[in-house]
Amino acid sequence: MATFDLKDECLKDEKILDCTAGASSFTSKLSDKGYDVTAVDVLYGADPDVLKKRCEDDFDILLEVHSGLDHKVDWIFFRSSEDMIKGRVAVYKAFINDYKKGKGKRYIKAELPCLPFKDNIVSLVLCSNLLFLYDDSLSYDFQMKSVREMLRVTSREVRIYSLFRHRRMSEISPFVERIMEDLEGYANLKILKLNYRFREGGDEMMRIIKEV
Ligand SMILES: C[S@@+](CC[C@H](N)C(=O)[O-])C[C@H]1O[C@@H](n2cnc3c(N)ncnc32)[C@H](O)[C@@H]1O
Repeated sequence: MATFDLKDECLKDEKILDCTAGASSFTSKLSDKGYDVTAVDVLYGADPDVLKKRCEDDFDILLEVHSGLDHKVDWIFFRSSEDMIKGRVAVYKAFINDYKKGKGKRYIKAELPCLPFKDNIVSLVLCSNLLFLYDDSLSYDFQMKSVREMLRVTSREVRIYSLFRHRRMSEISPFVERIMEDLEGYANLKILKLNYRFREGGDEMMRIIKEV
């Protein structure tokens, strides 16, 4: 919620798509509250036990990556590395529990840059920790097609978090400016400062309003 600058009360009339949602708990939490939310990821469709094992393995990698980076992190959202670990374990457990119930319904397998949905089917698409972040392995062409595809399925808006590059923390991806230029006249793009801070430079998101 904080990474997309979302407030609970604003979401009740939205149709939300969490795109490349991975093992996050966003869809589980919102669907528990009765909100209209769907998650897509290339990994969905797999057996819950397979994804559980994957979460556990990925978690070990995350811990390894984080070790020694404490000084590069703002301990405000998470108060300490122990707090972060506790929070992240709770997230993937909530995901697995909900995935078991919602697989094939609110958790749908899809692979960007193609989404298996009609035009304007949702009102808000969210995409975190994929585009811009991996600009060394995901080409500009792929990222542009993905943004256009997300714009196709939303009637109003897309939000992308974060804008920085994973190999060079605190450096914004050059794709951010390029996409802003290339989509001019097609959509209204803005960079918004967030209250959320964790990794250095990770306090901005892109808000794209579709122009009709
Ligand atoms: C770093 S994770 C981020 C997960 C989640 N959005 C979050 O912020 O916690 C990136 C996710 O993107 C998914 N992914 C990567 N390429 C994809 C593609 N072309 N189409 C759909 N999902 C993809 C991966 O499977 C993974 O779950």
